Amino acid sequence: MSEMTQTASSVLQASASGVMLEARELVKRYRQRTAVNGVSFQVPHGEIFGLLGPNGAGKTTTLEMIEGIRKPDSGTAILAGLDIRHRKNAVQRLIGVQLQATTLFPELTLLETLTFFRSLYPTGRDPRQLLSEVHLEEKAKARPQDLSGGQRQRLALALALVNDPQILFLDEPTASLDPQSRRMLWDIVLALKEQGTTIMLTTHFMDEAQILCDRIAIMDNGEIIALDTAAHLIDRLGAQATIDCKLNSHTVAADLETLPAVTKIRQSAEHFVIFTAEMQPTLEALLQYANQRGITLTELQVSTPTLEDVFLELTGRQLRPE
Ligand SMILES: Nc1ncnc2c1ncn2[C@@H]1O[C@H](COP(=O)(O)OP(=O)(O)OP(=O)(O)O)[C@@H](O)[C@H]1O
Ligand SMILES: [Mg+2]
Repeated sequence: MSEMTQTASSVLQASASGVMLEARELVKRYRQRTAVNGVSFQVPHGEIFGLLGPNGAGKTTTLEMIEGIRKPDSGTAILAGLDIRHRKNAVQRLIGVQLQATTLFPELTLLETLTFFRSLYPTGRDPRQLLSEVHLEEKAKARPQDLSGGQRQRLALALALVNDPQILFLDEPTASLDPQSRRMLWDIVLALKEQGTTIMLTTHFMDEAQILCDRIAIMDNGEIIALDTAAHLIDRLGAQATIDCKLNSHTVAADLETLPAVTKIRQSAEHFVIFTAEMQPTLEALLQYANQRGITLTELQVSTPTLEDVFLELTGRQLRPE
């Protein structure tokens, strides 16, 4: 069998078995520091899988080992049935990688840039079509250096798609973007999923992970500390809602713990977060408690728990320090 045929049949088998990507006990050390410490997971065909974690958690290192950009100290990754250790070239034809800082030719237009990168692969997508998918058709004749931050990120995404990849890797795809550009990028990513692309991304935005990802691996200190759907991760907290309130100094956490349905209290100074299994009775009792004691409620916010709460529960730290 030729290498192309071998690769094609391996991709077919991988799609049939359902697993497009597998990380097996990946380990990476930098001097004394272990950046990635035995990371394993499987990503089925067509899933958006997210690595969520704080700065330095080991997300990029994990991603780059899977992409074949960094060599693991031990462990390996299997992409579409191909072991990255032995079939790196074949793997790289199958994957698309959105680079953080892409160096481009300043004299080429966007269309010329995409056409050039497309020419490096035997097969791939039509550059004009790609420009329209990332909503840059009006910029076809512009140069990369004349783009806004959001447009540049979308160009980077189009570049990652020129070879019509089976698996797409996005490292912090919306870092430093304004809310409107983030939404636009999310929509493009969701459209790619609709077309059957398997996508792996990293982020430290919990809303991004929650909106985009079918499953999320929470990473901290080089390890995966939880892996599930956002809904299941949040369910594990056993709380229906969080009541975020500011009460003056007469309040003690022990009092709040006795309110009905309360599962947990988090306190910092006069600020309390009450986790409850049943929001309404807790809320009613809280207002009554404050009334009876002449305590002033200066702030009150009821919300559903988020991945931020999950991270705090797992690590005792905030995902994004305030
Ligand atoms: N080339 C390198 N040499 C030495 N240490 C490195 C190198 N690359 C990463 N590290 C260290 O490995 C750890 C994990 O880094 P990594 O970039 O994978 O984290 P990350 O989760 O992607 O973080 P961020 O959210 O900031 O992008 C960090 O402590 C980092 O300082
Ligand atoms: Mg990173």
